[in-house]
Amino acid sequence: MIKIAVLVSGGGTNLQALIDSKREGKFANAELSLVISSRAGTKALERAEKAGIKNITIERKKYEDLPEYDRAIAKALSENKIDLVVLAGFLSVLGPGVLESYKNRIINVHPSLIPSFCGKGFYGLRVHKAVLERGVKVTGATVHFVNEIIDGGKIILQKAIDVLPQDSAEILQKRVMQEGEWVLLSEAIEMFCKGEIT
Ligand code: GAR
Repeated sequence: MIKIAVLVSGGGTNLQALIDSKREGKFANAELSLVISSRAGTKALERAEKAGIKNITIERKKYEDLPEYDRAIAKALSENKIDLVVLAGFLSVLGPGVLESYKNRIINVHPSLIPSFCGKGFYGLRVHKAVLERGVKVTGATVHFVNEIIDGGKIILQKAIDVLPQDSAEILQKRVMQEGEWVLLSEAIEMFCKGEIT
């Protein structure tokens, strides 16, 4: 059984999509073993609890620096014998401790077509605001492996999504999630679990 940890920071709709996909029979040789939240009291933790998934909070703000935080995450992952790490709206950065132990075994979902609108400062609603400000007509979602460069790892899947004239950042975010992120993330995990990507 492939043990998956999902790292979150907020709403957890991507986590919910994974919970639902798993219930529908996707990634049958894997289990959602652990949810780690970088913030206390998130909706994502509630979703994990409701689904009966072990969930813990490792609050970023309680750690002085990144290496210390990274060690705490690495410890939780190793104690729970995690094989695959999924960043689903995880808004903290991982350090070398986790990145080296989980090379090509950390997957992130990002709400744009990388290499556009990504990197430092581009997260959550900010991405969609930037898309609308720039006036691009096509955006999308990307699932990629995580390396030491923010949003810089190898791309696994992408989906293009039209920007419509009446879109607000919130409306666009919702469509990118529904039509892009929730579908792609689950597909990428399925591919990983089938050994189609390594
Ligand atoms: C998602 O849109 C995710 O792609 C984004 O944050 C949102 C989290 O939503 N992540 C980033 O921007 C990372 N660069 P969720 O908590 O409801 O899944």
